[in-house]
Amino acid sequence: MTPENIPKRKFDALVIGAGGGGLRAALQLSRADATVAVVSKVFPTRSHTVAAQGGMNAALANVLPDNWHWHMYDTVKGSDYLGDQDAIEYMCRAASHCVVELEHSGVPFSRLNNGKIYQRPFGGQSQHFGGDQAARTCAAADRTGHAILHALYQQNIRAKTHFFDEFFAIDLLQDDDGYLLGALVLEIETGEPLIIEAKTTLLATGGVGQLFRTNTNARINTGDGIAMALRAGIPVQDMEFFQFHPTGIAGKGMLITEGVRGEGGYLVNKDGERFMERYAPHAKDLASRDVVSRAISIEVREGRGCGPKADYIMLKLDHLGAEVIKKRLPGIRDMSLTFAHVDPIEAPIPIFPTAHYTMGGIPTNRFGQVVAPLGQSAEEPVPGLYAVGECACVSVHGANRLGGNSLLDIVVFGRAAGNHIIRYLQENRYHRPMNASSVDCAMRRLVRWEQRGEGEAVDALRTELQQQMEHHCGVFRTDDLLAEGVEKIKAIERRLDDVRILDHSKIFNTARIEALELENLVELALATIISAAARQESRGAHSRIDYPERDDVHWMKHSLYSKQGKQLDYKPVRTKPLSVASFPPKKRIY
Ligand code: FUM
Repeated sequence: MTPENIPKRKFDALVIGAGGGGLRAALQLSRADATVAVVSKVFPTRSHTVAAQGGMNAALANVLPDNWHWHMYDTVKGSDYLGDQDAIEYMCRAASHCVVELEHSGVPFSRLNNGKIYQRPFGGQSQHFGGDQAARTCAAADRTGHAILHALYQQNIRAKTHFFDEFFAIDLLQDDDGYLLGALVLEIETGEPLIIEAKTTLLATGGVGQLFRTNTNARINTGDGIAMALRAGIPVQDMEFFQFHPTGIAGKGMLITEGVRGEGGYLVNKDGERFMERYAPHAKDLASRDVVSRAISIEVREGRGCGPKADYIMLKLDHLGAEVIKKRLPGIRDMSLTFAHVDPIEAPIPIFPTAHYTMGGIPTNRFGQVVAPLGQSAEEPVPGLYAVGECACVSVHGANRLGGNSLLDIVVFGRAAGNHIIRYLQENRYHRPMNASSVDCAMRRLVRWEQRGEGEAVDALRTELQQQMEHHCGVFRTDDLLAEGVEKIKAIERRLDDVRILDHSKIFNTARIEALELENLVELALATIISAAARQESRGAHSRIDYPERDDVHWMKHSLYSKQGKQLDYKPVRTKPLSVASFPPKKRIY
């Protein structure tokens, strides 16, 4: 098929990904009368935001005293001082407004007896810059993401956003001056390509939890947008920082919300000891996630794990009582009954850390514009390209994200990107001409999977990739482990050429989609492990046994990984907030 023969549709704005970030941006645009296409590889309400459980942070002070500045402090500290403080200030200041907007859009937040929005304590939250525990996480029971995603979808339908449901984005289209022209997408139902031309393109494709064997992520989280950015020549930022959530169901990985500990649940080892008191005497079970995940791994490594193989820890919540569990944690009870065969009203849940969240991603500024390096430590926006949510790196999470800041990030920066795109569209009123060579290049990605004959299976290679990443790039890392891992992932990359799919039919061919996803996973496994091997310090979720200390002199900087030559470069952290004094790096104690 030549570029001229491929059907085309034109919109002002293209949004790729229909999770909370994409839908919040699309809503802003549709309400401003822009024509908006949202492309989603699954039906929008199946996007991974639906799985977010515990809640969304905002200093509403409905339960305990709070303000956005304390929230900002906790987020900077939580990020292990790698977060950019201008973006963090922006996010924390915007949080309360964004929660109220969601409430007015129909999100059924849980309520306090006085009618105000319910807020629960979450990890890493404090009052008065490191004092007593705060209660900052606005929750709709333990299905907050579900509530937000459905409300945003319904508001988009009302605002006449155009949805391309079950379309897979193959690659971005750019002209020779670097302007974004839209994307080549594949209609999964028919197997036919389609060019969506747009004056701006926003990536909101989520994270890449499928890099790891045990994870909390939907099967769809294969980092498609981050890989597309890499192929478009944009270096990706801080990929070595991958969050392991402390409480996944042991051996399976499904998320058991931090909200359980927020409601008063706690972790015990085989001796029934509440071991977090040793690792984080002040915050205990509500220390930040990197701290709790490491503590659990150490307990197991040192022989204090539970079960016949001593390979997990117990999360105890039966003492909360049936009423609290049924009211505040109904989804957790369902999950535990289904996947751990345990009723948490009666017995503790077996848990172990599980891959959860991509802190790195496509570098953006706080308006959602994707930025690329421009010579010596300068950068400039890629014209017409935006990214928000987990696929982006603003960077508000730095080296470790606080629970409850992810739903906040997608809503705040989805909205901000929408507003910026509206201004961009006012100044860029016409579509630029389509670039045939860019379409050709994207089509080659698709045509490659028409190769027939014997070869390796997609599924087998993906499983091996996930196992290697878990082994070589998990909670604890060393030089040797990482160096060996880099070679193994490079070998997997070479084997990709020999992978074949057996099903070449067009209609709803999920084998082809999984093959395209595997290519994206391999790109991002390389980005992650090469960035991790280079960083010789421990910071946030990147924990090096051989470099146990944080090294601000040499490593307080963002990494930038480029596909070309698998090169690494670095850029400074933005330590200057917008209006308040900077929080200088301190030892991080919980
Ligand atoms: O534990 C949780 O409910 C997860 C929340 C988050 O990742 O923000």
